[in-house]
Amino acid sequence: MTHARQHLIQVVAHRGASEEAPEHTLAAYQKAIEDGADALECDVRLTADGHLVCVHDRRVNRTSNGRGAVSALELADLAALDFGSWKNRDEAPDWEQERPPSWDQQSVLTLERLLELVADAGRPVELAIETKHPTRWAGQVEERLLHLLKRFGLDAPASADISPVRVMSFSARSLHRIRAASATLPTVHLTQFVTPRLRDGRLPEGIRIAGPSVRIVRSHPALIERLKLAGHQVHVWTVNEPEDVDLCVRLGVDAIITNRPRAVLRQLGR
Ligand code: G3P
Ligand code: CA
Repeated sequence: MTHARQHLIQVVAHRGASEEAPEHTLAAYQKAIEDGADALECDVRLTADGHLVCVHDRRVNRTSNGRGAVSALELADLAALDFGSWKNRDEAPDWEQERPPSWDQQSVLTLERLLELVADAGRPVELAIETKHPTRWAGQVEERLLHLLKRFGLDAPASADISPVRVMSFSARSLHRIRAASATLPTVHLTQFVTPRLRDGRLPEGIRIAGPSVRIVRSHPALIERLKLAGHQVHVWTVNEPEDVDLCVRLGVDAIITNRPRAVLRQLGR
């Protein structure tokens, strides 16, 4: 299905092109850039020695050959692990090749390396960084993140509208920490539950972008319209099914966060 508004929708590669390549690896993000994604999504966690790495789970058990919590491991421990081979066992649904590529030699990705990749992409690629927030690191994830963004000249954009980086979180407290340090860095409040505030089309104080799950969009489309009427942007995750892409187009959402950027771009006629 096509729609007049579809060209306005940003396609964001969730954990990279994570349907095809192992999530949060350099290969997944390189693939997403090759596929034409407008932006890349990544989750960040702090290692025991204070490095921000792109890992979704609290532990490395699912996506590497190691065990243990990211927060208990040093970067050197993580660098010794294989973050690719687990994907060899994963049945990706629509390989165009006869055989899927063999994923190995994929090491942990630091946020610093991802920022370098984006800087060298050769075209504008935005970054949506999600702070995961283990209580042990209260405040430190945001502090390190802002410090790193500052090194790349990305911590204080002239205005939110032109920022190539945004910070997302399920934790409004995490986003408020970001906002306290940088008023112009855009923040996205992620949510998987319909709270009374969200039902009214409102977000936590000072936050302009809503990040509802696709389930919320399916079950409460009027809520999305209320958010838009209130002047908020809406970034929806994780949109992998064609009918959900169509729904997002119909509702005029601003960004689709997907594991399948190539397929979504194709559906949008791009
Ligand atoms: O883009 C938001 C989405 O990634 C939130 O859920 O669990 O995949 O980090 P999760
Ligand atoms: Ca995420």
